[in-house]
Amino acid sequence: MLDHAARIALIPGDGAGPEVMAEAVPLLDWARARGRRLEVERLPYGADHYLATGETLPEAAYAALRDGCDAILFGAVGDPRVPDGRHAEEILLRLRQGLELMVNFRPCRPLPGLQREGLWLEVYRENTEGAYCLQGSTEPGRAVDLAVHTEPAVRRLLEAAFARARARSCPLTLAHKANVLKHGHGLWVRVFQELCAAHPGVTARGMHADALLCALVQDPSPFGVIAADNYLGDLISDLTAAFAGGMGTAPSLSWAPHRPFRCAVLAEPVHGSAPDIAGKGLANPVGMILSTALLFRHLGWESEALAVEAAVAAAMASGARTRDLGGSLSTSDMGTAIRGHLPG
Ligand code: NAD
Ligand code: IPM
Ligand code: MN
Repeated sequence: MLDHAARIALIPGDGAGPEVMAEAVPLLDWARARGRRLEVERLPYGADHYLATGETLPEAAYAALRDGCDAILFGAVGDPRVPDGRHAEEILLRLRQGLELMVNFRPCRPLPGLQREGLWLEVYRENTEGAYCLQGSTEPGRAVDLAVHTEPAVRRLLEAAFARARARSCPLTLAHKANVLKHGHGLWVRVFQELCAAHPGVTARGMHADALLCALVQDPSPFGVIAADNYLGDLISDLTAAFAGGMGTAPSLSWAPHRPFRCAVLAEPVHGSAPDIAGKGLANPVGMILSTALLFRHLGWESEALAVEAAVAAAMASGARTRDLGGSLSTSDMGTAIRGHLPG
């Protein structure tokens, strides 16, 4: 728990990002009204700002976030007007990598009334390196993308995954392709085996990621925590989002377990800017709202986290649905329906 008011930066971003963020902001006001100490700062970074000014995330703004904020609540970035995704890289990947937020937690718990209710999967995705190291080259007829894996990041991610599997008394599975990626995924398997020896109480095994995907689609119920590198974790967490109703419902939280900077946590839905539905009030705010609950829990505000999660479950149980889940509520109507189940 912080000994000062939590300073939370909001970056709504692009497309559906600001629409779903608008349903998270009242939750911050609600937490404040319940006595939680927080200050909010809204930042303009995203495609509109980039196209208007040429700025993605200015260095001074990055430093102010890193040293002057405690947490970031993020919508989504990505815009068809920026086809190379430069601003997404310089805003979102810069924050994940610069702040060393290597643990990306992506839970999958289908909500009341959805298929597979009772399933409880959690993806622990390394969030700063691997294929996302942004090193490579393109020459005529040849293109190279490097994947760099370092032991400190791999170890921190796996330690978090082992701790979680132990706390939940559930199985832990490492997704890898060490049969082909002998160097990078070889490092993952070596550290994983070391931690298996150190945690004899955790039922842990590695699986080739291709076989894991097949097993998950056939029956996800035997799995509990799944650990993966950045690229595999990105893919697996969209699959697990599908188990829980689709992209609109999946939350995530990224943090730096070693707390190298004041700002050591970022909450964002798993989905992107959804350009196909953006601006029409069709985006489901549940992923964003559940990400806000994860942030509350990380800040030590457990009662608010539980109350938000219970309000989402109650709204779903009462039949409130946006179009992606077969209903007809708009983004803001869904947000209102959820808030209607919050305690005062
Ligand atoms: P996407 O997640 O934006 O959309 C995939 C599909 O899911 C679309 O059909 C979309 O309509 C649907 N969807 C997404 N969010 C939804 C919501 N809240 N409610 C209902 N349906 C929802 O992925 P994409 O289309 O591959 O990418 C679009 C842009 O977003 C790209 O520029 C991509 O790079 C970016 N992106 C950003 C993030 C992020 O900021 N964290 C994540 C993923 C993709
Ligand atoms: C996600 C997104 C991002 C990723 C993109 C937008 C860089 O797909 O958060 O899952 O690949 O990590
Ligand atoms: Mn993704």
